[in-house]
Amino acid sequence: MKEIVYLDAAASFLKPESVIETEADFLRNRYANAGRGVCARAAAVDDMVAAARCRVAEFINADAHQVVFTANATDGLNRIVSIISCQSGYSDMSTFAVSDLDHHSARLPWQELLRIGKIDKEHICELDSDFNIKIDSIPKTDILVVTAMSNVIGVPQDVASIVRVARKKNPNVITIVDATQYVVHKKIDVKKWDCDFLVFSGHKIGADTGVGVLYIRDPDKYWPDKFGGGMVMRVSDSELVLNKAPEKFEAGTLPLTQICGLARAVDELESHRPDLSLIKYAYDELSKISRVKILTERDAAVLSFVVDGMHPLDVGAMLGANNICVRVGNMCASWIHQKIGIDGSIRISVGPWNTMHDIDKFISELKKIVK
Ligand SMILES: Cc1ncc(COP(=O)(O)O)c(C=O)c1O
Repeated sequence: MKEIVYLDAAASFLKPESVIETEADFLRNRYANAGRGVCARAAAVDDMVAAARCRVAEFINADAHQVVFTANATDGLNRIVSIISCQSGYSDMSTFAVSDLDHHSARLPWQELLRIGKIDKEHICELDSDFNIKIDSIPKTDILVVTAMSNVIGVPQDVASIVRVARKKNPNVITIVDATQYVVHKKIDVKKWDCDFLVFSGHKIGADTGVGVLYIRDPDKYWPDKFGGGMVMRVSDSELVLNKAPEKFEAGTLPLTQICGLARAVDELESHRPDLSLIKYAYDELSKISRVKILTERDAAVLSFVVDGMHPLDVGAMLGANNICVRVGNMCASWIHQKIGIDGSIRISVGPWNTMHDIDKFISELKKIVK
């Protein structure tokens, strides 16, 4: 088989061997449902889920009851909209604020509310020339969505300051952090950030697809958005008593195998973060190719670029034909591309498996394409 150079960690991380082994062992030897059985095997699965939750909580400096397992970041971001609506019906909300750093998953659920007339106004926070959210452009708003690191630009935002300013302007603001890219590269401290909600996907940090994390700062304040098995303590025609958080937000069978792998992936990520000196090296080498225009900073977590006179999809297809896997197109982040004035770009991103040799191979193939 030909050597594959996978430079697309930001789209989805390759899985560490230990995650694959952990999941295979669970499926082969330990599988049972959680929260429903009384036998020792089922109890062991309950313990596994509880331990995984604690591990994730520790990872982001949360308490275990604030950690809800979802399907992925997109699921979490959409569920936040539903959870807030279950509590208030948006009756006391009129504005939301976003920025051009957002992924479609972070902004579209709110724009949909605008479209159907459930919310009145969208505010776009401004970016400075380094793609940082301008703190002085944060408005008085009911909802604030913060992308902690753009998947195109790869710059960490000062989430704590952004949240602080938003709260100064409106003490009741609900702050939502999309940490899907940030979590790969930097330690998250939800207590320091003081956000109300935060999400990320398991598959971007080396866990399987199908599991994500939703942090809720005050889970007792909210009514659940989904109903079914596992979230009810007592129900009759006249009463409904819910389980405490986080279970009340987890109706239905959880993605158990993926949760098992997620805890392992967190361990792996904390001991092997992607080596961003590879991005710097790629930046230096790409800078020497005259037709290449780099969009990102040398110390960013990803490297996005365009090639003068070539469509990004063509560049991606040609690299792909030579076994170099990169991400091309609008990357589900249309607004930042519109702001830069282009339709799409080409992105490389690295994981712990990548080496200098991978970057050399990428540069050498790109040079053949660009000439
Ligand atoms: C910043 C950001 N937010 C949200 C998402 C959505 O993640 P998922 O497709 O895993 O739900 C992505 C995926 O690329 C992303 O980069």
